[in-house]
Amino acid sequence: GAAESLSLSVIGTGYLGATHAVCMAMLGHRVVGIDVDGEKIRSLASGQLPFYEPGLNKLLRRMLGSGRLSFTTDYSAASGADIHFLCVGTPQEPDSPAADLRYLNAALALLAPHLHSDCLVVGKSTVPVGTAQGLTAYLHRNAPAGTHAELAWNPEFLREGHAVEDTLHPDRLVFGAATERARTLLAACYAPIIADGVPVVVTDLATSELVKAAANSYLATKISYINAMAEICEATGADVNQLAAALSYDNRIGGRFLKPGLGFGGGCLPKDIRAFTHRAKELGVGQAVGFLQEVDAINQRRRQRTVDLITEMACGDLTGVHVAVLGAAFKPDSDDIRDAPALDVARMLHQAGAKVTVYDPKAMDNARRSYPELTYAGTLEAAVSGAEIVALLTEWDLFRRADPTTLGALVRLRNIVDGRHALDAEAYRAAGWDYRALGTPNQL
Ligand code: UGA
Repeated sequence: GAAESLSLSVIGTGYLGATHAVCMAMLGHRVVGIDVDGEKIRSLASGQLPFYEPGLNKLLRRMLGSGRLSFTTDYSAASGADIHFLCVGTPQEPDSPAADLRYLNAALALLAPHLHSDCLVVGKSTVPVGTAQGLTAYLHRNAPAGTHAELAWNPEFLREGHAVEDTLHPDRLVFGAATERARTLLAACYAPIIADGVPVVVTDLATSELVKAAANSYLATKISYINAMAEICEATGADVNQLAAALSYDNRIGGRFLKPGLGFGGGCLPKDIRAFTHRAKELGVGQAVGFLQEVDAINQRRRQRTVDLITEMACGDLTGVHVAVLGAAFKPDSDDIRDAPALDVARMLHQAGAKVTVYDPKAMDNARRSYPELTYAGTLEAAVSGAEIVALLTEWDLFRRADPTTLGALVRLRNIVDGRHALDAEAYRAAGWDYRALGTPNQL
């Protein structure tokens, strides 16, 4: 039968919130997105996403047109909704590994006075375990509805670049919900997704908060594990790609997130493992996740080792060497440059005296704003033109598809470092390139 249409508010319309608001409208709900950032709201309301995510802008426009989706800076618009989703960011604190909860606390403080009737407030942000319990007490004290405004937690697992697909077809839903009413309301909200057979795991609040921290820590660990193996390969002449392929056929290990290379970045994995470590220490169980410091260290080393490999190609001296850096975003299909390994490497090369020219299909504006000291090119061809070393640091399809012969005609020297194991080494070597990648043997 037709799904029940609920009235929802989505507080915080950044990456997560904007995606969630659009997708919930797609499920048939009436959704108002609320944010204190007037510019963001104006942009969304006019059908323009303030960031890049494949497919989302089209759906935003379609949902605005349906009349079920609207955006405002006015928190009173949340009043009367059945569910309020908290989707604000929880970045790393400026000078500490801890998660910064100021946006979350501020959002709840602005929302609570408008909660006059029975409703559910649902946190989606990644938070230190124990946060939801504290917010519950605050909510009951500050909402006019008192304990009739209930708190639940529903962590989000979407990946940038796959946000819509991951929201509408998730691997699982996690409901940290203490009461039957909360569980029923969340189930009604996600009914079309649950009807597809997506598993729902119902937990207490603390467990739901932990699921997210544990999942991202596991993913980060898997990446650093294969990158640690790459370091061993580098010391022995073994090939980490062959190693990863052989490991991946073991179903208990699996091949996903086992891609060696420059390592992970972005607004989530790096800060989440640090915040988790910090929280575990506060709880007196820091030892339990002591390995995450190693995971972080292995990941950071990838950046330096990539610079070292490029320096080696420049015969030990980068001064004045023209390096074309392909990629700026922390991963392909995104314009997000938060803790982007590519830009970190570009910055280090620049500091070592190289003439760095960066090109990225979507992240140029963000990169320019944060790294004005680097040079930017308008196209892939312009970036590599005259280069003495090409460094592929974010594996966009555009770079994978590039023809080694065509590129070879543009550069000054055919030297390439493949920081993501994304290119066909044989094809590059056949086209006269000196192709190198960390963790695979050099064949000159
Ligand atoms: C990550 C998680 O995958 C999501 O499940 C989670 O919801 C999200 O964080 C979040 O907490 O909000 P995301 O940061 O968008 O998603 O990106 P990933 O696809 O996980 O990639 C993270 C980084 O790992 C990228 O820099 C990527 O290049 C790198 N990576 C990924 C590797 O180096 N090797 C791999 O095999 C996979």
